[in-house]
Amino acid sequence: MLPTIAREADVIVMIDQRKLPAEEVYVRCSTAAEVARAIKTMVIRGAPAIGVAAAYGIALGMRKSTATGTQKFAAEFYKMCELMAATRPTAVNLFWAIERMKRAFAEGANAGESVDQIKDRLDREAEAVHDEDVANCRAMGAHGAAVVPDDARILTHCNAGALATAGYGTALGVIRGAVEAGKHVTVYADETRPFLQGARLTAWELVRDGIETTVITDNMAGSLMRQGRVNFVVVGADRIAANGDTANKIGTYSVAVLAREHGIPFYVAAPLSTIDLKTLDGSQIPIEERHAKEVSHIKGTQLAPDGALIWNPAFDVTPHRFIAGIITERGICRAPYTESLRRAFEC
Ligand code: MRU
Repeated sequence: MLPTIAREADVIVMIDQRKLPAEEVYVRCSTAAEVARAIKTMVIRGAPAIGVAAAYGIALGMRKSTATGTQKFAAEFYKMCELMAATRPTAVNLFWAIERMKRAFAEGANAGESVDQIKDRLDREAEAVHDEDVANCRAMGAHGAAVVPDDARILTHCNAGALATAGYGTALGVIRGAVEAGKHVTVYADETRPFLQGARLTAWELVRDGIETTVITDNMAGSLMRQGRVNFVVVGADRIAANGDTANKIGTYSVAVLAREHGIPFYVAAPLSTIDLKTLDGSQIPIEERHAKEVSHIKGTQLAPDGALIWNPAFDVTPHRFIAGIITERGICRAPYTESLRRAFEC
């Protein structure tokens, strides 16, 4: 399996996703601040992977704390949680993972544990966040494989693969699950401007797995669908509101509208850690806006003239009515999502 992120004794190691596929290099973070910076600068990206990185970052930071008293240790811990929370605003997995670490901390503190015991507890919790994510992706893969056509021509957007998770992937997990179930699969990977997660990361992962992959630029999807060359769409998610409205990489909404026009089922694959029942609908999801240079430049080469205004939202929201189903580790949720998503947490 792909080594997205791993904990070594006193460092967190991540494959540098900004450099793929040209270079396979690893970034070693030895402080929580370095992990936060890696998240912010997209060394590691993808909603579940960001959550795992934050959990590991907090555990690492606290492991290195020199505080001996619980009060100072607690103050450092909450500061570190704030540091992680300030990295990227849209993927709710980040905040979900921080909450888990806070709960683990509180349990230790309430039980009267020593600083060293709480450090061990935080390490165990971060490890659990990592391992559960892999297991959830595999479960999504198995559930999702059932709705993939036997002779599948799948379009996906951005990278919702092993690189975006602790391993195996959400949308790409469904594709891997279909392949493992013996289905014949070919994949169209949207290039995904401006960061090119589709061309660089999705294609890299799938080609490594021997899955036939065609890269298209984002503006080719409509024409491809019109020619009947796509019969299934699956994407990941960064935050799913209680009513099923789904924030994912910018361009996902256009794909969903095109899929509806061409009668192609549009599925979202995401773990429960991406579902935010406290956010009632898509209008309440915070959308990250990134630096103008990601749009105006490619690898340092200027494309747009000085003086042109740039708009660079990293995500958009697909209204729930375009979504055929939300594939989770507990099965596939269908409309009405307000009920099915709530029930998924109860089973
Ligand atoms: O800006 P990114 O690369 O972090 O955005 C990632 C996406 O939008 C993914 O599709 C989403 O996080 C799902 S990852 C399994």
